[in-house]
Amino acid sequence: MRALGHRMVDDMMEYLEQVRERPVWRPVPAEARAALDEPTPRGPSDPALVYQQFRDHILPYPNGNIHPRFWGWVMGTGTPLAMLADMLASGMNPHLAGFDQSPALVEHQVIRWMAELLGFPASASGLLVSGGSVANLVALAVARNDRAGFDVRAEGLQRPGTPRLVYYGSSETHSWARKAGELLGLGDSAFRRIPVSAAYEIDVAALRSAIAADRAAGYRPFCVIGNAGTVNTGATDDLRAVAAICREEKLWFHVDGAFGAFAALAPSLQSIVAGLDQADSMAVDLHKWGYLPFEVALVLTRHAEAHRATFATASSYLDSTPRGVVAGGFPFAELGLQLSRGFRALKVWMSLKSHGADAWGRMVEQNVAQARHLRDRIAREPRLELLAPVPLNVVCFRFVAPGLDGAALDAVNQEILIRVQERGIAVPSSTVLGGHFALRVAITNHRSRREDFDLFVDAVLGAGAELTAD
Ligand SMILES: Cc1ncc(COP(=O)(O)O)c(C=O)c1O
Repeated sequence: MRALGHRMVDDMMEYLEQVRERPVWRPVPAEARAALDEPTPRGPSDPALVYQQFRDHILPYPNGNIHPRFWGWVMGTGTPLAMLADMLASGMNPHLAGFDQSPALVEHQVIRWMAELLGFPASASGLLVSGGSVANLVALAVARNDRAGFDVRAEGLQRPGTPRLVYYGSSETHSWARKAGELLGLGDSAFRRIPVSAAYEIDVAALRSAIAADRAAGYRPFCVIGNAGTVNTGATDDLRAVAAICREEKLWFHVDGAFGAFAALAPSLQSIVAGLDQADSMAVDLHKWGYLPFEVALVLTRHAEAHRATFATASSYLDSTPRGVVAGGFPFAELGLQLSRGFRALKVWMSLKSHGADAWGRMVEQNVAQARHLRDRIAREPRLELLAPVPLNVVCFRFVAPGLDGAALDAVNQEILIRVQERGIAVPSSTVLGGHFALRVAITNHRSRREDFDLFVDAVLGAGAELTAD
C-alpha cells in the first residue's frame, strides 16, 4: 500500500504539472464507458490493478475544471497542497461532530480566521459545509426560525392561522434560493424575485415596495438576500442599501457571497462588497474563489445563539461529559444538518497558513484583471459584442455577424460554444441575457494566464467565421 501510495502521489503531481498540455475536456470514449459499466465486484482485485483502471478510464476524462482555460459555471481549480491535505484528513478520518480533539480546534480556528477576513465579529458562529447551496440553505433556515415570530421548530408551518412567511432576493439570485425555500416548507411562491437594474443589481426601490405590499396583504417578510457576485454576470447588489432596509424593516439580511465575498480580501475590490460586514449571515464557497478542491464552503452568522437554536437537539446518546472524548460536546452537529462530518477544515487550515490570506486577495485581483483584459479585447473585436457589464470576474458576450440576428444568431453562438469545448481549447459556459444567448466566462482559476484568454478569443472568432462563411 505504501509503494502504491507513493506512485499515486507521483502520478498526481505529474498530472497537475502537465495539465496545461492536455485538452481542457474530451468526451468519454466508448472504451472507458464500457469499462465503467461492469457487474458488481463480489470478490477482490489487486489494488494496483484497480488503480491502473483508474488511470486508464477515469483520470483522463474529467469535466476539466483544473485546466487553465476552464471558465465554465463557477468552479474552483484545486491546489496540490489542499489535495494532500485531503489525503491526510481521510487518513486521520476523524469525526467532526465535535469531540475533544485537535481537528475540532482546527475547524474553530478556520472559522474564526474567515470571520475576521470577511469583517464578521469574533463571536460569529460558522460551519464548514459541502458547498454554497448548503451554506445558503443553513443561513435561510436560521433566518426563518429567528424572524418568523413563532416557534417554527415546534409548530412547523402547517398550523392553521400561521402567517405566510416571505423572503426577497433579486431575480438574478442563484437557484439555491428556490431549492432552499421549497425544502424549508416555504414554497417557491414565498421567494419574491425583485427586478434588477441594467447592471443586474437589485432594484432597491422595488424591494421596498414589495415589502410594503406584502405587509399590507398580511404576509410576513423575514429575510432579504443580497448578492455579492451573481452567478450570471458577477453583479453585486448595493449591500449597504439592502442592509439599511433590513434594519428598518427588522428583516434578516443574508448575503450570498458564494464567490463574490472573496472580493473583500482584495484591497482594490473591497469597495464592491461594502456592506458585506453588516450581514446577519453570509455564505461563501472555498471551492470557488478560494481555489480549494471540492467540497468546502462556509456559512457564517453573527447570531450564534440563533444558529444553534435552529439545529441543536437533545438526545441522550449525544450527551457530553465533563472529561473524556466527548468533553465539549458536539458543537458542529448543532449548527447544521450533518451529524457525521469529515475533516474538510484541514485543507483550509493548511492552505491559509502556507499561502496566506493575502495570496487569495492577489489571485482574486489577478482574475478580475483577466476579466477586464477579456472585456477590452471583446470591445476591440468588431465581430464580438459584450452583453453585460463586467464588475468582477464574469464576462458575457457573443459573436455577431452582419445580417444575423434572433434565433439564428443564438444558434451560431451555441455552436461556437460546443466547438470550442469539443476541440479541447477552452470551456466557457452559457447563459441567456436580455433574451440573447451569451457565452459566459467566469474566472475563478489560479492557473489562467492572460494569453489563455487571447487564445480563447481567437478560437471563438475562428469558429464564428467557419459558421458564417458564405
Ligand atoms: C452565486 C452563487 N451562489 C450559490 C452557488 C451554489 O454553490 P455550490 O455549487 O457550491 O452549491 C453558486 C454556484 O455557482 C453561485 O455562483
